[in-house]
Amino acid sequence: MRNLLRETRLHPHDFVLPVFVNDGIRDAVPIPSMPGVFNYPESMLGDVVRKTRDSGVQAVLLFGVTGNKDPVGGDTLREEGLMARMIRSAKEAAPELVVISDNCFCEYTDHGHCGVLKDGDVDNDATLENLGRQAVVAAKAGADLVAPSAMMDGQVGAMREELDDEGFPDVGIMSYSTKFASSFYGPFRDAVDSSFKGSRNSYQMDAANRREALDESLTDEEEGADVLMVKPALPYLDVIREIREATELPVAAYQVSGEYAMIQAASSTGALDAKAVALESLTSIKRAGADVIITYFALEAAAWISGGAKI
Ligand code: PBG
Repeated sequence: MRNLLRETRLHPHDFVLPVFVNDGIRDAVPIPSMPGVFNYPESMLGDVVRKTRDSGVQAVLLFGVTGNKDPVGGDTLREEGLMARMIRSAKEAAPELVVISDNCFCEYTDHGHCGVLKDGDVDNDATLENLGRQAVVAAKAGADLVAPSAMMDGQVGAMREELDDEGFPDVGIMSYSTKFASSFYGPFRDAVDSSFKGSRNSYQMDAANRREALDESLTDEEEGADVLMVKPALPYLDVIREIREATELPVAAYQVSGEYAMIQAASSTGALDAKAVALESLTSIKRAGADVIITYFALEAAAWISGGAKI
């Protein structure tokens, strides 16, 4: 009866797996605060991607961690840079998988900010021009979706225009449209070896603002986004629901590094059961209205579900 009347079901197709690729390592390096999550050398990306496909999960979100940092994140603007290399090798290893490129500069700049700096703060408009160029490099390499995560005003419009001009009208944009300035990103910043010190409050959103959260996503829809996103997920279920009701576009939610780390940490002391809590969280995120969930639990959750696990 419970199964018959269940309103929300998880499926491996709901998930996107974030993958970290580091151009300075030879073996997989575990991320201490995120047990089960690794920085992979480029040589292992093909295996990771094939394993993802075989699990039933059909999309990866690629993050590059590079030693080639400079003030503007120039490595991402080169066709031989890490971002383009990752996309090409993921696509080659599993052409049917959806390859999503995280489009930002913070992992590639020596100051760790998400764009070009001017007088110590990010210069929105100069960054837009680079984001447009970066999107085209990602598209040329074979990305199916580009995912701008810099929270620059006008980033979706700038990328759409460049993609269309350069002959990539079919490459979609999954916008990190409502991205909060969140302390839940802590483990991610360790993972990508970010030299970032300071705050992104001038471009990421205030956790307290519901109306602004909605407005940010709807603005990206107007600029041409194909998928909207709320990030983080669990502390912002109300925002996911509200955006779901205000648009016909697919809505993604990103269960971020800190959400993953909390569950693993509590499970390591025996306080919580990681599997049960992860599935309950993912179900809640879907119930709130997410059509797509980006999660470090993707492969495990796919296996749990396929094995018949329920919350
Ligand atoms: C920025 C970016 C961040 C995350 C994804 N893309 C970090 C930030 O804004 O500081 C966080 C993801 C996570 O915490 O899992 N490129």
